[in-house]
Amino acid sequence: MLRVLFLQQLYQDFQSSHAFQDEPKALYQPVNYILELGGKRMRPLLTLLAADLFGADPTRVLPVAHAIEVFHNFTLMHDDIMDHAPLRRGYPTAHTRFGLNAGILSGDVMLIHAYQFLLGLNDPSKAQVLVEIFNEVAVEVCRGQQYDMDFEQRDDVTIDEYLYMIELKTAALLGGALQLGAFAVGAPDRDINLLKAFGRHIGVAFQLQDDILDAFGDPEKFGKKPGGDIIQQKKTFLWLKAQQLADASTRLKLQGLLNDSAISDEVKVAEVVAIFKLLEIPALAAAEKSRFETMAFECLEAVNVPKNKKEDLLALTYQLMGREH
Ligand code: IPE
Ligand code: IPE
Ligand code: MG
Ligand code: MG
Ligand code: MG
Repeated sequence: MLRVLFLQQLYQDFQSSHAFQDEPKALYQPVNYILELGGKRMRPLLTLLAADLFGADPTRVLPVAHAIEVFHNFTLMHDDIMDHAPLRRGYPTAHTRFGLNAGILSGDVMLIHAYQFLLGLNDPSKAQVLVEIFNEVAVEVCRGQQYDMDFEQRDDVTIDEYLYMIELKTAALLGGALQLGAFAVGAPDRDINLLKAFGRHIGVAFQLQDDILDAFGDPEKFGKKPGGDIIQQKKTFLWLKAQQLADASTRLKLQGLLNDSAISDEVKVAEVVAIFKLLEIPALAAAEKSRFETMAFECLEAVNVPKNKKEDLLALTYQLMGREH
């Protein structure tokens, strides 16, 4: 775990020394704002750990790691607009603080800078594939995000559709972070693919945990508005499982709650959460999470490096799975 702390610091220093100084200020202030709010910065850490796994110097892949984190923050900036979210990492969301136009354009410029950092690897023989992998992931994230929005309007979403949606919107990027780190240091294709699969499985588990925290997390620690998914009528695992298990009258009650404009958001969330508890949804969501964790560990197990080399990645995964924010 010491190694993880070291790599975390290494990335944090890189990020701080690459704060944007460009003009105009109104374009870059929201960019620096969201990046400085920090968050877990786990995607760049995954990139560094992937490089580390193959005995390469992780400092070499810092620009790639930063490309992923800048891209991630771009998706958050636009996601918060699309989800009407007031809070991110315990502070006002960028568009709440700086306005909608800033949220749009500062997000756009982050996406472009992400590509600049990606090419900062400075290895022309790898640039083409690096961009191809990045493009594939970025398109998947957009596709997943659109499914997420489409599902708000539908009441016949299946759990399989939900799992596919989160694989795209969230898990693809975790897989990509590992894949890019391993590719950048010349790891064998087989291992790159196993790491990508590992990342995707933990990514699905990670989004399941995000959905659990949205309803059941400690608002102080979570840093986002509690119950946001319920208010936005997100078709999360919790919601879909509740629909499956509820009797006819409870199902009607759930629907009625969502459409009731006379009650406050807080009451709505509290009542829906109480029904989730009654139906024992948290335990079912946790079991679904474990199913993906197990598949993830099988992939990591199969990566062809000595077992002790994988300990840091494993420790980080356990930490993330039990996360409270
Ligand atoms: C938030 O990601 C978006 C999801 C995919 C759930 P993180 O939970 O990694 O957010 P930060 O970067 O740590 O704030
Ligand atoms: C985020 O999903 C996935 C992205 C591509 C940004 P969420 O909408 O659940 O993320 P949070 O909860 O706002 O961080
Ligand atoms: Mg969203
Ligand atoms: Mg959101
Ligand atoms: Mg969420």
